[in-house]
Amino acid sequence: MDLDKIGSKTVAITGGGDGIGAALAVHYSQLGYHVSISGRTEEKLKSVCKSCELNKGSVSYAVVDVTDIAQLSNWLHTLDRTADLTLVIANAGVTNGLQETERLEELKDIHQLLSINLLGAINTLHIASTLFLAKGEGQMAAISSLASFFGFAGSPSYCASKAGLRIYCESLKRNLAGTSVSLTTIFPGYVDTNMAEKVDASKPFQLERGKAAAIIASAISKKKSEWGFPYLLWLGVRLMSLLPNSIKHRIANFFDYHVKPQ
Ligand SMILES: NC(=O)c1ccc[n+]([C@@H]2O[C@H](COP(=O)([O-])OP(=O)(O)OC[C@H]3O[C@@H](n4cnc5c(N)ncnc54)[C@H](OP(=O)(O)O)[C@@H]3O)[C@@H](O)[C@H]2O)c1
Repeated sequence: MDLDKIGSKTVAITGGGDGIGAALAVHYSQLGYHVSISGRTEEKLKSVCKSCELNKGSVSYAVVDVTDIAQLSNWLHTLDRTADLTLVIANAGVTNGLQETERLEELKDIHQLLSINLLGAINTLHIASTLFLAKGEGQMAAISSLASFFGFAGSPSYCASKAGLRIYCESLKRNLAGTSVSLTTIFPGYVDTNMAEKVDASKPFQLERGKAAAIIASAISKKKSEWGFPYLLWLGVRLMSLLPNSIKHRIANFFDYHVKPQ
């Protein structure tokens, strides 16, 4: 894809080689956007590009690790210079956690997860905010999780990363107030991706990834400040977070999950 020729509105999606990011890429390319996806594995990015192109979508990719600020900045600045960059989605993420017999995650795993899920997302939003504030408009979205509202026993660092991202977004939105730069925080429940596959749980109301992408895109187009799904589960976890710990933890025992052995 020759970026010099891109005239249509452009959306940049981190973690676009799989799962929700790939489904968002297909969704936006069908809406007529130019889509630029990034991730660490070139083969996966190429394969998503092929699927979008089969549907006559306009798509490009860049090999970018969200923990590498220089790579990330270069990708987004190039898109801003050469295309009409209007939307940036901080989607890339990994999961980790405890198997049923374990009590503590390894420190090195905790650091790695936080550097991708929390710092990687903040890197993305910070670079996008700087670009959009300079040109006076733009939209961003961050994929947090329903797990950001409660500390599940099986995934302490994952829940912490998503809660940290939720709060970072809340502060950033307050600092963007009065500008034409907006940010939507998304709280998905279970979506049928490789990530959900790693989790050992009943996965109530798990959504198909295409449906999840449509819900996310709809919330972004309505410029919602926050949106979670399935809606009743989102309502439930927010109400649950108001309860005293003694009651909250008893309810949470029904929903706790662990990761599957590798
Ligand atoms: N699936 C669910 O049930 C669920 C629920 C709530 C929230 N979420 C959130 O939704 C987002 C997408 O998850 P998913 O389920 O679609 O997961 P997924 O299928 O595992 O896809 C995650 C994507 O992120 C990319 N990625 C991982 N580390 C990266 C890094 N350091 N730099 C750049 N890209 C990186 C991966 O590609 P490479 O490994 O090739 O880089 C992959 O394409 C995540 O933030 C996740 O936490 C998912």
